[in-house]
Amino acid sequence: MTLKQALHFLLLSVLSLFLMSAGKADARTMKAIEKNMEHMKKPEKNLKKLAISKLYLTPKFYKDVVILQKAAAKLVKIKHPDKEFNDLSDELVEYLGKLSAAIKKKDSKKANEFWKDVKSICSDCHGAYKD
Ligand code: HEC
Repeated sequence: MTLKQALHFLLLSVLSLFLMSAGKADARTMKAIEKNMEHMKKPEKNLKKLAISKLYLTPKFYKDVVILQKAAAKLVKIKHPDKEFNDLSDELVEYLGKLSAAIKKKDSKKANEFWKDVKSICSDCHGAYKD
């Protein structure tokens, strides 16, 4: 191998390592996400149950929406190397806000719609980033 070939080889190795790691969150970021998601587990379970009976306007439903909002506000502070991840975090905050506003206005129909939107944002992100 000539020196030039060796340099090319080195350059390609570095490049492929870089490409392999692109878009992947480091261990610290993953840990922060995992911890954040643990706070969503219980409220999600409660909300799903209440949503079956369309109990969107109950204080219980609202309480768990607020818990999700707090977790989502922390999620947006976690910077992921993928833009899509950060966009989905922003969207979650936005739609939880819409859901909360609909509950305050006692608009059960809108609350039902926004709850479905929130759930699809959760599953969009899980489809792409949760293994
Ligand atoms: C922007 C991305 C993103 C959004 C939005 C998101 N999640 Fe997650 N969630 C993840 C990732 C990534 C994991 C996997 C974390 C890990 O390594 O355990 C996860 C894991 C979870 C887990 C499993 C945690 C455990 O204990 O195993 C639950 C529960 C969860 N999410 C709930 C929710 C709920 C509820 C919502 C919506 C209100 C939501 N998530 C929205 C990225 C997201």
